[in-house]
Amino acid sequence: MAIDFDLDAYREFTNFSTEKLEVATAIRKEVVKLRPSTCLEIGTGPDGQLAKRLCDVFGLYTAMDQEPVAFSAPHCRIRLLQGHWPDDAPRERFDVVLASHVLCYIPGTGNVIARLRAQCLPTGRLIVVANSPESDYGRFRHELARRRGVPWYATHERVAAELRDTPHRRLAVAATLLAESREALARHLRLLLDSHGAVEAVRAEEVTSLLDGLGIDRSFSVEQALWIVPGAPEGDVTS
Ligand SMILES: C[S@@+](CC[C@H](N)C(=O)[O-])C[C@H]1O[C@@H](n2cnc3c(N)ncnc32)[C@H](O)[C@@H]1O
Repeated sequence: MAIDFDLDAYREFTNFSTEKLEVATAIRKEVVKLRPSTCLEIGTGPDGQLAKRLCDVFGLYTAMDQEPVAFSAPHCRIRLLQGHWPDDAPRERFDVVLASHVLCYIPGTGNVIARLRAQCLPTGRLIVVANSPESDYGRFRHELARRRGVPWYATHERVAAELRDTPHRRLAVAATLLAESREALARHLRLLLDSHGAVEAVRAEEVTSLLDGLGIDRSFSVEQALWIVPGAPEGDVTS
């Protein structure tokens, strides 16, 4: 089952976190070396947090999301595609394919990374971004799962498992969520609870008690994992 995307929580979260800026900066450093012409970003988000910071690197930036996307980036060529990946995936291949915080919404059963690689040109790169289990995020998730006596199915583990036999590099990017108050932090954290299956109903008191137990006030570290993966050598984009 896919997870509902909480738009309000996302907007609030991006206002208080350094994450998108830090991740965009790291991706930019990686991709400029390739002198890329085209990018496909899957799950761009409502306001193109990464897209607007990266699109000037490319001749054409294709921003695809199942929901409407709106952002402006002067002097950039942007193609907005509203659709579901992989069902509505463009047929062509791209220099760079970017999937940031979207795999948790695409559970699937097969190897999603392989399909994403097939959407890249053989000389291109797939870049996947997910929360790292390092830092406060991981401690928070592990403690939540421990208290509930349930396993935590993190996107991070899934990506690492799917990449086990594929050459790749993994970067760690530090980021911090600085909320205006403990209550605001508890609200933001709901968005970080990526797990496959039903959305966990996390009560505010539960989050507050967890934060107390971990000694966290309103500054919360959310290290980001970036995987840089070569495009698939051959193959159809839908294979
Ligand atoms: C958490 S947001 C991530 C936004 C952005 N990539 C970022 O890193 O901030 C996830 C986005 O993925 C979109 N999405 C989820 N599943 C999708 C799918 N199968 N195809 C296209 N977009 C999808 C949602 O509509 C949402 O805008």
